Amino acid sequence: MTTRPADAPVVCAARRRLPLLGHTLWLALRRVDYLQALRACGDAVLIHLGPLPVYVLNSPELIHRMLVEHAGKFSKGLLFDRARPYFGDGLLTSSGSFHMRQRRLVQPAFHRDAVYGHTAAMANAVNRHIDQWRDGQVIAVERETRALATSIIVETLFDTDDSMQLAELVERSLPEFIAGVGRRTLLPSALTRLPIPGTRRFDAAGADLRRTTLRFVAQHRRDGGNLVSRLLAARDHTGRGMTDDEAVDEVITLLIAGIETSATTLAWAYHELGHHPQLRDRLHHEVDTVLAGRRVTAADLPRLRFNRALLYEILRLHHPTWLLMRRAQEDADLGGVLIPAGAEALYSPTTLHRDPNLYADPLRLDPDRWLPDPPPLPRCSFIPFGAGNRKCVGETFAWSEMSLILATVAARWQLDPCSGTKVKTIVDGIVRPGHLPMTVRSRAR
Ligand code: HEM
Repeated sequence: MTTRPADAPVVCAARRRLPLLGHTLWLALRRVDYLQALRACGDAVLIHLGPLPVYVLNSPELIHRMLVEHAGKFSKGLLFDRARPYFGDGLLTSSGSFHMRQRRLVQPAFHRDAVYGHTAAMANAVNRHIDQWRDGQVIAVERETRALATSIIVETLFDTDDSMQLAELVERSLPEFIAGVGRRTLLPSALTRLPIPGTRRFDAAGADLRRTTLRFVAQHRRDGGNLVSRLLAARDHTGRGMTDDEAVDEVITLLIAGIETSATTLAWAYHELGHHPQLRDRLHHEVDTVLAGRRVTAADLPRLRFNRALLYEILRLHHPTWLLMRRAQEDADLGGVLIPAGAEALYSPTTLHRDPNLYADPLRLDPDRWLPDPPPLPRCSFIPFGAGNRKCVGETFAWSEMSLILATVAARWQLDPCSGTKVKTIVDGIVRPGHLPMTVRSRAR
């Protein structure tokens, strides 16, 4: 038996547990606000979703022990189990040795040099999109950033002439599909199977996405040079590669994991820049100095230091992922906090990044926190891309595309908030701004 260290964090039980429901109602109704309030209870807080015990881990140290030191004792848990029938068995949902094998096959395509090799294609996609903007036009920023993230990832995955067709399909069907999966992970299954238009739209969106992705994957077994061809060419230690079905699951996973997260981060960045003209001017100044009218290249990315600090700060203050879970496969002792086999544990980058013990004045947007270099912080205090063996495989891709979009747009356009607009924060699968209209003004004037 392990003895509890004297200074070990105590697990406190959350109040207001309801019969049958446990704390589900509070989490479903108040979402981020509920998790934020639980932080005041302690480093580890026990809640119940129905009868299921869930340990909410608030301290960076406990999160580090779960994600890194004891990673082998945890699987992805409840949320991803429920999503698996729809997402397939890609990196987000798979576990154990199958996950390890797939991760080894997918990872090389996301190494820095491989990602940097796509910078010119990314820049083309962004320029083509923003060429269509007109001076004085009002754009819906949340839709534009989604369109940009979609065309970048689709063109990087499949750089064929008809990849635009897939990009259009993804842009049309992915939000419907992700929202539908979100509902299916939270609501009783009887409710989500009703033969109503919403169910039919969800089924059609999922089937369309899978069918078209399969056609593209099969076609790329023959062609080469792009990210999907790399996935298909990768071999495990037995010399076996991915089947078409495995590759489709991975591609759909990359679309699901890679589009909304980056698009939402950028949408928050434009929202904040619109309300902090002095930060917007610093960004414009840096871009004008570093690029001097050229297109962004991979070599420019490390030189765009303010751009990077701004994105760090957006990922701190507005992290899109408010709820991530794991399930203990066996008893896991996180230094005095015991997560029993079968129980779930929960961590929230969104609330962790707003902890006043880690960040002074945490609700203030201040990119200078990260300049000239990120400050020394306790490990796992800043985890925009997670940590350990399930850390985001697309981290370098995300930094490259977001920095490139921010710089390319800043070189040509200024985005101003529309007066009288109140932007709502929506919390569903992720934390995102609602409708975000802004006026684009040409900087060439
Ligand atoms: C701002 C953008 C992004 C953010 C904030 C983000 C965040 C995260 C986080 C926090 C995780 C870990 C989840 C967990 O602990 O359960 C994760 C995993 C993952 N992300 Fe990202 N991500 C971003 C962009 C991307 C992109 C661009 C791609 C692909 C092109 C991607 C693909 C993935 C995949 C496949 C996983 C699962 C990895 C595994 O379990 O092996 N992400 N991401």
